[in-house]
Amino acid sequence: MSKTRILTGITTTGTPHLGNYVGAIRPAVAASRDDNVESYYFMADYHALIKCDDPARIARSRLEIAATWLACGLDPDKVYFYRQSDIPEIPELTWLLTCVTAKGLMNRAHAYKASVDANTAAGEDPDAGITMGLYSYPILMAADILIFNAHKVPVGRDQIQHIEMARDIAARFNHLFGAGREFFVQPEALIEESVATLPGLDGRKMSKSYDNTIPLFEGGAKKLKESIARIVTDSRLPGESKDPDSTALMPIYAAVASHAETVEFRTALLDGLGWGDAKQQLFERLERDIAPMRARYEELIAQPARIEEILQAGAARARAIGAPFLAELREAVGLRSFRPVVEKKTVAAATARLPQFKQYREADGKFYFKLLDADGRLLLQSDGFDSPKAAGQSIASLRAAASLASVADGYALGPDVSAAEVEQALAALAQ
Ligand code: TRP
Repeated sequence: MSKTRILTGITTTGTPHLGNYVGAIRPAVAASRDDNVESYYFMADYHALIKCDDPARIARSRLEIAATWLACGLDPDKVYFYRQSDIPEIPELTWLLTCVTAKGLMNRAHAYKASVDANTAAGEDPDAGITMGLYSYPILMAADILIFNAHKVPVGRDQIQHIEMARDIAARFNHLFGAGREFFVQPEALIEESVATLPGLDGRKMSKSYDNTIPLFEGGAKKLKESIARIVTDSRLPGESKDPDSTALMPIYAAVASHAETVEFRTALLDGLGWGDAKQQLFERLERDIAPMRARYEELIAQPARIEEILQAGAARARAIGAPFLAELREAVGLRSFRPVVEKKTVAAATARLPQFKQYREADGKFYFKLLDADGRLLLQSDGFDSPKAAGQSIASLRAAASLASVADGYALGPDVSAAEVEQALAALAQ
């Protein structure tokens, strides 16, 4: 059975905070360890350009976000981890999709509509300050998803509409150019109900826009401690019973601690633990998880060239999937080569002209192989092997050998066949 493909993009503006870690990074890293899924995690740096025209900030943020994901345990050999801007097939597909996307569909996008409404309310031109990047944002996002035919897309609620648009666009393309073939699968949004959003220092949702975040790594343990000190509590004194639900301390603690630890913390607050001591406990509990990751983060961020290498390797692997798919899509819309199409038959005939290894089993229960030339003449006959694997290994060593003398036993030459002829046949196979 083929694996479920899960894909999500991380817009590279800003620096990851504890809320990003608990709500997105940690569950994604856990999901990526599941052998039944194929995960694609990428830095949506083209999307970042829509929101930010500060080059230094863009550059810094994509490095920090890459280092954060790696430090938090994402294994780049097990998942596809890349930058959107390293995959030229994504903007190419964006254009193919742009040409089949109804303008009316984009008019309905929440983010665009919100900007228009704000402009109208302010008495401005409805499109004041709105770029084509913002307007076409959902098409670029559809291309991100469709180039790898992702089945599931974990996103926040604000992104559900974009996934629906990707489905619409995919269906339209399939209908116009598929000729009965479904080029694109219909992606589904995956909303993690169980992952609660973390409250910030003031108790509202932790978010950059509220300026109430606890940074994950930035500023080190010192900054972590200072942030925790700013968590809003009431004025109850040590010894007085506290309402654990009156402050963000409790849910933040619960987000990292075990159930037993959480119960203990809650009881201690009810029993009069001072806010200062409670903050110290929270700091120590967070630090237990964060400190080792922070050390990896510092190490990575000090070696940007290493991160570059990891991302380039990720992009190469992803392109190995995306590029042949895009070639089919170009073909489908009519962007075809003028060179005459090589007949499939000709290719088959060319393959048939090569020497061949044939493996088989004899009545004695042993496993054999022979090497035949293009006309079926016996060049080489193997001895019997106890397993197909052993026979296969012998074939492999023959294939790898430059001279037959280096694989002296396990076979005999066919009648009237010279070693040079066999070596020539092996060389032809190696082409
Ligand atoms: N728009 C998404 C966000 O702001 C980020 C994103 C870009 C994305 N491309 C994507 C998410 C593709 C999922 C799939 O959160």
